[in-house]
Amino acid sequence: MTPLSSNPFIVPREILDKYNTAGPRYTSYPTAPEWRDDVRLDEALAIIDANNRERADVPLSLYVHLPFCHKLCYYCGCNMLVTKKQDLVERYLAALFVEIDHVANRIDASRRKVVQIHWGGGTPTYLNSEQITRLFNKLTSRFELLPDAEVSLELHPPVTSFEQLETLKRLGFNRVSMGIQDFDPDVQQAVNRIQPYEQTRDLIAKCRELGFISVNTDLMYGLPHQTLEKFKKTLSLVETIRPDRIALFNYAHVPWLKKHMSMIKEETLPGPDEKLEIFEFAIADMLRQGYHYIGMDHFALPENELSTAQADRSLRRNFMGYTTCLDSDLYSFGVSSISDLDRAYLQNTRNVNDYIEWMKTAEVAVKRGMVLSDDDRLRREVINRLFCILVVEKSVIETQFGITFDDYFAKELKALEPLAEDGLVVLTPSEIQVTPRGQILLRNIAMHFDAYLAKTAPGERRFSKTI
Ligand SMILES: C[S@@+](CC[C@H](N)C(=O)[O-])C[C@H]1O[C@@H](n2cnc3c(N)ncnc32)[C@H](O)[C@@H]1O
Ligand code: SF4
Repeated sequence: MTPLSSNPFIVPREILDKYNTAGPRYTSYPTAPEWRDDVRLDEALAIIDANNRERADVPLSLYVHLPFCHKLCYYCGCNMLVTKKQDLVERYLAALFVEIDHVANRIDASRRKVVQIHWGGGTPTYLNSEQITRLFNKLTSRFELLPDAEVSLELHPPVTSFEQLETLKRLGFNRVSMGIQDFDPDVQQAVNRIQPYEQTRDLIAKCRELGFISVNTDLMYGLPHQTLEKFKKTLSLVETIRPDRIALFNYAHVPWLKKHMSMIKEETLPGPDEKLEIFEFAIADMLRQGYHYIGMDHFALPENELSTAQADRSLRRNFMGYTTCLDSDLYSFGVSSISDLDRAYLQNTRNVNDYIEWMKTAEVAVKRGMVLSDDDRLRREVINRLFCILVVEKSVIETQFGITFDDYFAKELKALEPLAEDGLVVLTPSEIQVTPRGQILLRNIAMHFDAYLAKTAPGERRFSKTI
């Protein structure tokens, strides 16, 4: 393996310390704290109608949130609900069908074809094969799926059967993503998630046999009882499976927001030095295994579409993660889901019962959101390019938005000069290029293009640490 000192992704400690501040992950810009909490339903409908008018020829991406889980993983930060109530699941599906109908009624689905579908959770494979089929058929009866669309879902290996995989493949799903986190038995015990290696290996082998194009697995560092030695073992087991993509997440421990996280005792968490060692080792090891380091926390095999899309500068990112689909509007269904439209974000209520109640009378269940100004859209594009293709070509932005980049962003370019001195970016007359070192600190680079952060008093917004 390349020694850590000569690995370009390893950031010297003094630079890490300098930049290890709290910062947004920029899954959206403007970030969620800037959105309004009081979006009226008629406003939301007007936004959807305007989007359909202005973007009549732009394709669609569709997201469905399925919040249910069988068992609680104590680290879980997702919007999920542990339940055994099948009647609740059925009522939720009925509400989803109503929402899909109402939104579809406002969209010209014959012109706006679907390039991407993703089901996230929670655990979408909480649904049995019959429910999966019913939901998929509902979506595709109202929206037209293109033959080469990306159709993916998140699954939880301990509750996913071969029969469900066969159903998914038959319906047209072609990519899957699943959590591993860590294979170590002590770590699994401490987070209440028992997931044997053999089970995950066999499930992935089945995905391949069925012909799924891409399998992603999630790993997490910073979990209780994790050590570098144990994580090395996990990485060597993952190597035998060789997922097409790997997401490596930093565990966000926020018990003040998610009460169940207090089941994890603080004293069992690895300290900052051990966490950093795990992170640095994991990067080096995945490079050794042949993965490309795509962005903040994503890796992909060289032949995987994420790597090729990054190389040809077509990679994009939305709430569903990295994607190779070019310009599309994302319409989302279900509790807490976020629609990402050209000029607006709309987020549904986060409470499952409220969602089911609302959908009995209302056309949408939107609670939060924001209409984007021209400046928001411009900055969103710059940030997206930094995160996805690691370069901002000034001329592309100038053509798209009718500005002179160096004038519009004079202050930001000046502010990036110290980052250039620290080797995070290269500033050329025509481009801003992110270096390998800068890839680790992408949030710090993007923060300079965030017009809201500059107006926020220190401590007013609570974000996780950038590394
Ligand atoms: C919806 S879950 C994955 C699908 C499925 N429910 C499962 O657990 O396998 C999405 C991923 O988010 C990550 N995640 C969950 N809670 C997190 C937290 N507190 N901090 C960082 N990542 C987290 C995990 O890696 C998890 O696999
Ligand atoms: S990690 Fe996955 S399975 Fe575990 S509680 Fe969260 S959403 Fe459910």
